[in-house]
Amino acid sequence: MSAHDPVRLALIGAGNRGADVYAGWCLDHPDEGGVVAVADPDPVRRRSVGDRHGIADERRHDDWRTLIDDLADVDGVIVATPDRSHVEPAEAVLAADRDLLLEKPIAATAEGVRRVAAAADASAATVTVAHVLRYTPFFATVKRLLDEGAIGRLAGIQHTENIGFWHFAHSYVRGPWRRAGTASPMILAKASHDFDILRWLAGTRCETVACSGALTHFRSGHRPEGAPDYCLDGCPAADDCPFHAGRLYLDELADRDGWPMNHLTDDRSPGARAAAVARGPFGRCVYACDNDVADHYSAVLGFAGGVSATLTVSAFTRDTTRTLKLMGSRGELRGHLDAGEIELRRFLPRTEGPAGPDDTGVHHTDVISVEALDAGAADDVLGLRIGHAGGDAGLMADFVRRLRRRQAGLSVEAALTDLDESLESHFMALAAEQARLRETVVHLDRPITDETTAITTPRSTT
Ligand SMILES: NC(=O)c1ccc[n+]([C@@H]2O[C@H](COP(=O)([O-])OP(=O)(O)OC[C@H]3O[C@@H](n4cnc5c(N)ncnc54)[C@H](O)[C@@H]3O)[C@@H](O)[C@H]2O)c1
Repeated sequence: MSAHDPVRLALIGAGNRGADVYAGWCLDHPDEGGVVAVADPDPVRRRSVGDRHGIADERRHDDWRTLIDDLADVDGVIVATPDRSHVEPAEAVLAADRDLLLEKPIAATAEGVRRVAAAADASAATVTVAHVLRYTPFFATVKRLLDEGAIGRLAGIQHTENIGFWHFAHSYVRGPWRRAGTASPMILAKASHDFDILRWLAGTRCETVACSGALTHFRSGHRPEGAPDYCLDGCPAADDCPFHAGRLYLDELADRDGWPMNHLTDDRSPGARAAAVARGPFGRCVYACDNDVADHYSAVLGFAGGVSATLTVSAFTRDTTRTLKLMGSRGELRGHLDAGEIELRRFLPRTEGPAGPDDTGVHHTDVISVEALDAGAADDVLGLRIGHAGGDAGLMADFVRRLRRRQAGLSVEAALTDLDESLESHFMALAAEQARLRETVVHLDRPITDETTAITTPRSTT
């Protein structure tokens, strides 16, 4: 194989992330990488990705265990199974010494995270955790500006993960991440990215975590009078409910083919969509689901060296993006991920260059626009930008670049989001869940255990 042949990838878990995002990247970049083997127990998903990538029949596995015996010519493996099914395939891929791209969360439990870490320690292969935000031009620029001293000494961070009301209802009330026991606590599932970014920007380890939050809204007590179990069964509150399944899936997303419609049905014909909304899990009244994950959190984090941060993760937002403000000794930086906009407000007057519109003479402001990678390909679902502001593409490009180096016999450096970098964010998220449930401050100098994250006492809610 020449150094310029596409790298050969195997895919475990051919759902939205595996098939659409990562394998999809290969279809857009056929000279860079190709998928040569797949494992997924779902025959429709297996056939779909197999046909799109021309995968030989004998390399379409219904079990990841048989795929592990089929890695002879494979350069790297992507594990994109559901949250509770990451650990065992990840261990097996690492035991086979194949470079691994592992979806977050690494695992849903502290024990699982430690098992993957042990497997990585014993392996010659690298792990790239899919903390895609670090690969966005936006966060890369924020980090660079901080490292260059643009705002002086960092003292505080305010970071918000605006999940978006409809996105939350889709994923965390009706969808696969609605129960902590079958997926993971919402703060780990949704915000391991954000903890990772906070840790990266703070530049030191997190020492303490306090957290408040609850499942306040998506509960039976808020069910409108007379609302049926399924929205389409003549709900009297249909016009007044922001979460009505018919409006969302059959009107607003009527022309949508990819995520999130792929969660509803593999058959995207109008009849199949209507049937899925009429009687499927995504057609349920949001006040009559079996969800138990919190719908909002606020965490306060203390880092070594004195940086403090707040993280708000909320269902109750119109936008679906991250916003943040960094506060330093010489200025502040405000950013909006999906707008690709960074505003630097410095505490000193400008000494060179033309004055900006907001310059007052006692401070000056720069506005920096950051183009998302592959912005042309980024598509938009009700204001939610698909592709994580270029992070999905950035992650794959970097993974493939490092595989190419190995293929060429060159040294392979650790990923920007390798396991060592990523473990802490998971322990921070698990600590936040523990702090919330116990109404206490958790100190990260003591190991996080699963006993302490398994408490299920909810805060009082109405
Ligand atoms: N990095 C990110 O920003 C990001 C975003 C969304 C989801 N995720 C994570 O990615 C993972 C996959 O999410 P998704 O949205 O693609 O889910 P999905 O349900 O669309 O896909 C999961 C696929 O895994 C398959 N599968 C289930 N058990 C399997 C097994 N034992 N072996 C092989 N395949 C198996 C399923 O049939 C399905 O096709 C989850 O852990 C999720 O939390 C990460």
